[in-house]
Amino acid sequence: MKIERIEELALTTADRKLIADLLKEGFGVYPEGKSYYKQLPDFRMLARDGAQLLGHLAGEFRMINIGGTAIRIFGVADLCVTPSRQQERIATQMLSELEKLAIKTQVEFIILTGSEPNVYKGMGFERTARVCRWLLINNLNTLGVIRRFVDNIMVKPIGERELPEGEIDFLGHIF
Ligand SMILES: CC(C)(COP(=O)(O)OP(=O)(O)OC[C@H]1O[C@@H](n2cnc3c(N)ncnc32)[C@H](O)[C@@H]1OP(=O)(O)O)[C@@H](O)C(=O)NCCC(=O)NCCS
Repeated sequence: MKIERIEELALTTADRKLIADLLKEGFGVYPEGKSYYKQLPDFRMLARDGAQLLGHLAGEFRMINIGGTAIRIFGVADLCVTPSRQQERIATQMLSELEKLAIKTQVEFIILTGSEPNVYKGMGFERTARVCRWLLINNLNTLGVIRRFVDNIMVKPIGERELPEGEIDFLGHIF
């Protein structure tokens, strides 16, 4: 198995189909034929075994605002491993590759919102709960800015810095 980072613009039509099929298989309720949920990410981490796609994560490079401080982050969306190959640490390896990239590029935190916080604990993510603001997008429509308490934000610090206190403004949609 190989883990590959690929820029969104470099994806082939065949890659986009493999990703859409994996997301549908992994999440079940994922929109049919779509390789992204709200908006295109900046890059993907793909776990491949020959022609088969075993795992995927969508990476977004973003500035966010926490309590007035600008923070450079990677946001993670659509982390997914094909059901027959789950529990083989494929997600862990993709996140580890993302962490290496974050270290090289002075990204300070990796952030995602997760319904399964236990998956991320062993990988060094800490759960935090904050009031957040983000751009609400649904079915290719911008519906406005939402401000809400979110209790399942998973944060992995890359350097020494702790996540600043205060409200999180995602400066875009939430991951
Ligand atoms: C969540 C998911 C990506 C994990 O992928 P994976 O390759 O099986 O995960 P790993 O083998 O790297 O395991 C990572 C950790 O998560 C735990 N774990 C894996 N699947 C889990 C699950 N379904 N529920 C709870 N914990 C789980 C592992 O035990 C491991 O914990 P440890 O580090 O403390 O030992 C995969 O189950 C999946 O694709 N699920 C469907 C889509 C989904 O829910 N994505 C996450 C959205 S928040």
